[in-house]
Amino acid sequence: MKDIIFATGNAGKMKEIREILADLGVEILSMKEAGIEAEVEENGVTFEENALIKAAGIAAWCRENGVPGCSGKTADDFIVLADDSGLEVDYLNGEPGVYSARYMGHDTSYREKNANIIARLEGVPKQERTARFVCAIAAVFPDGAHEAARAAVEGYIGWKESGENGFGYDPIFYLYENDLSTAQLSPEEKNAISHRGKALRLMKKKMQEREE
Ligand code: IMP
Repeated sequence: MKDIIFATGNAGKMKEIREILADLGVEILSMKEAGIEAEVEENGVTFEENALIKAAGIAAWCRENGVPGCSGKTADDFIVLADDSGLEVDYLNGEPGVYSARYMGHDTSYREKNANIIARLEGVPKQERTARFVCAIAAVFPDGAHEAARAAVEGYIGWKESGENGFGYDPIFYLYENDLSTAQLSPEEKNAISHRGKALRLMKKKMQEREE
């Protein structure tokens, strides 16, 4: 299989990605490691669209500029992967959805974003507080073909923040199984059930099938 460029600068994501894709036996580079300086505007309306816009944008940049971080290699040597993820709250008609990072503005703290979501669900009973973390992963192959995979982890919005782990909306997103927020899980526990992990495993299967 070709080597992989994953369109993220997030070290935590890269660690999880490398663990899940380790047995492919290929090199997995972050954008930074590949020397890519592209800026891609994610203006899609679905997670899949945004992931594909990002992966296709990076692949196009590499066809034009090469892969500066890897001497002797070109865009033809890489599959470009990108992800997009977020929180969907059913009572809020799927908000914040693809706007999860931008909800209430990029610079608003998650303490405020989380408090706002809880306030908008005031008086709403548990059975109507259903929510999910969604992740879509897109792959663009050297021949221009593309694939997408989507996965989710189901839960509900609690009445208060709990837990110190994780990031973003984790402190208000609770699992039905144990009524713990995903911020109360250890990183290993969260990776084992996470939307990103699930989507990545699905994408791994699709990439392996293409190779057969
Ligand atoms: P991105 O896909 O990295 O752009 O993430 C989008 C946004 O979705 C993040 O900034 C968070 O607000 C939210 N999000 C995605 N996954 C998680 C998660 O596992 N926990 C908490 N928030 C998440």
